[in-house]
Amino acid sequence: MKKEDFIYNNNFVAPLSGSSHWESPSNIALVKYWGKSDLQIPKNTSISFTLSKCLTNTKFDFVKKTNNSKLIDFEIYYNDNLKEDFKPKIQSFLERIVTYCPYILNYKFKINTINTFPHSSGIASSASGISALALCIMSLEKLINPKITDEYFYTKASFLARLGSGSACRSLKGSVNLWGAHSSFNSSSNLYSINFPYEVNDIFKTYHDAVLLVDKGIKTVSSTAGHNLMNNHPFGEKRFQIAQENTDKLSTILKNGDTNEFVKLVENEALMLHGLMMTSDPSYILIKPNTLRIIESIREFRFKNDIPVCFTLDAGANVHVLFPDKYSDKVYNFIETKLKVYCESNSYIKDCVGFGAKQL
Ligand code: PMV
Repeated sequence: MKKEDFIYNNNFVAPLSGSSHWESPSNIALVKYWGKSDLQIPKNTSISFTLSKCLTNTKFDFVKKTNNSKLIDFEIYYNDNLKEDFKPKIQSFLERIVTYCPYILNYKFKINTINTFPHSSGIASSASGISALALCIMSLEKLINPKITDEYFYTKASFLARLGSGSACRSLKGSVNLWGAHSSFNSSSNLYSINFPYEVNDIFKTYHDAVLLVDKGIKTVSSTAGHNLMNNHPFGEKRFQIAQENTDKLSTILKNGDTNEFVKLVENEALMLHGLMMTSDPSYILIKPNTLRIIESIREFRFKNDIPVCFTLDAGANVHVLFPDKYSDKVYNFIETKLKVYCESNSYIKDCVGFGAKQL
């Protein structure tokens, strides 16, 4: 679909008031999105696991305005407390989508949101938060125009989420998602994410992701700044080419269930991401000494026990530990006894591959 297909331009009877309520998960990229042009047009394809425990729950109340004001009008709450500091991000998201959802100008909104993961855990809440809000807005669109299909509903929700925060577009549906145009995937697009369209071996459908919270602080360099540093990066073009190749390789691995190849590819992607940060101009480093201690311990444990456990990283110091369900007792025992000491306040989150967003 083209971006024009997402512009709402029908005239249907709009409800006077109502509400929608969605819960949406975070996701972890296996092939990383790093580098973009324009409003979150990715420089390469990415593939992610949808998570199931790191969720945002958003209730969205709307009332038709009684005046003709054409200003975006909303209040944002976190767990029933007014949050003025969340406002600029939501304001800019709503401004970006108004071309596609002009009906939002006719309403006043109350957005009440809460995360199931600790608020300042260093886990980005934008993927779950923005995708939940995009789904709430699409529920309003569905009330205005009940004829839209489920497929359009989710595709447009992903398109809107992308405008708010790139990786958020991969959070709507279950297990594995792909975003970014790629010649091996006919239905792939830079504008929205799709459910991974080929066979996925059962072993990956119950994968675990233990998120080790190494540093709960706010990142010193935002991901927006990081993406921008990929323009004119000395390794940029090569990186984008490798990511396209890794997308094909991962597609084969997901089909044949080769967990050893999975380990190699996923760790390489994570380290390449941080290598790109270290070689940007200006250069910066987001991993911490404890991130490296965890990485080394995981590699040693894997080698000694012949268990295909691996790590991946997002744009921060926390470590995602990925492993098949059948090894979960052994790996959780390893995390409890050897890894959690490297986490801030010994804390980590036991997550796993999930089924996507849910309407409540
Ligand atoms: O969606 P953003 O702008 O927060 O960028 C996400 C970037 C990574 O988490 C590092 C990789 C990814 O694909 O999610």
